[in-house]
Amino acid sequence: MKHLLKLLDLSSDEIIGLLDFADDLKRRQNQGEKHELLKGKTLAMIFEKSSTRTRVSFETGMFQLGGHALCLLSSDLQISRGEPLCDTARVMSRYVDGIMIRTYGQKIAEDLAKYGSVPVINGLTDLAHPCQVLADLMTIREYKGKLEGLKLCYIGDGNNMANSLIVGGLKTGMTVSAACPPEYQPDPLILDFAKEYSDFTLTPDPKEAAKNADVLVTDVWSSMGQEKESSDRRKIFEGKYQINPDIMQISSGGAIVLHCLPAHRGEEITEDVFEAHADEIFTEAENRLHAQKAVLATLMRS
Ligand code: CP
Ligand code: NVA
Repeated sequence: MKHLLKLLDLSSDEIIGLLDFADDLKRRQNQGEKHELLKGKTLAMIFEKSSTRTRVSFETGMFQLGGHALCLLSSDLQISRGEPLCDTARVMSRYVDGIMIRTYGQKIAEDLAKYGSVPVINGLTDLAHPCQVLADLMTIREYKGKLEGLKLCYIGDGNNMANSLIVGGLKTGMTVSAACPPEYQPDPLILDFAKEYSDFTLTPDPKEAAKNADVLVTDVWSSMGQEKESSDRRKIFEGKYQINPDIMQISSGGAIVLHCLPAHRGEEITEDVFEAHADEIFTEAENRLHAQKAVLATLMRS
């Protein structure tokens, strides 16, 4: 594994290996055991979109691993004045040991990896959010003791979270159902991958998807960069694509609920369901730190 650009690029064994490593790093962190696996190393973090969890967990993770992280808003970089990405990639590779990027097109992250010579980590693109889904899988194992054989149900926009959950769930042996409106389906690349799996279903009906689910996941109706579409999207999602008590009733008893955050209460999830499952959701947020430390140490350790 040279980069983490999308989960499609990883084998099942590589995903499980990262989860095992993340569990071990979480244990070491909680026991106060030193684990400076990246002593003296630097990570550059390029942000073209806002972030709370990604920025703080990567920066803290690098510190705990004995390294250092630079937070670079793209508006402050020469990229914003037209410096080509291929030059930025080559310059940064001369200074730092790894680059994390949060951007729009997947091609931007892929090009950074192509032109640079250090590992590149996708901290969210329009296509994928692999770091988040590694944390989600880690959280599911923590609460349910396993992944294989469980049913994961995603309800909402066929966005970066839907795409990465479908791939991550199927690659780790889960049954995956997705309920997305016909207008907002997961990416064709993902559907092409998923069609090989008999354990995958895609439906416009959240109630059908949620039947006997062990894990329910949702995400915002409008992602970053789609703000102008939000009123059109609301008309399609409202009253249907929501995790609420009715959906919980249909799911398996003891189902857990995950949300990558930030959440819009009353839209994709009701306040009561969110608060009843807050422990799972905030453990999921915490696990970003541990899962990313596993990714960083795997990619950047010399
Ligand atoms: N879940 C997630 O990626 O959160 P941020 O946008 O705050 O980084
Ligand atoms: N789908 C959301 C996820 C935010 C973490 C977005 O891309 O804005």
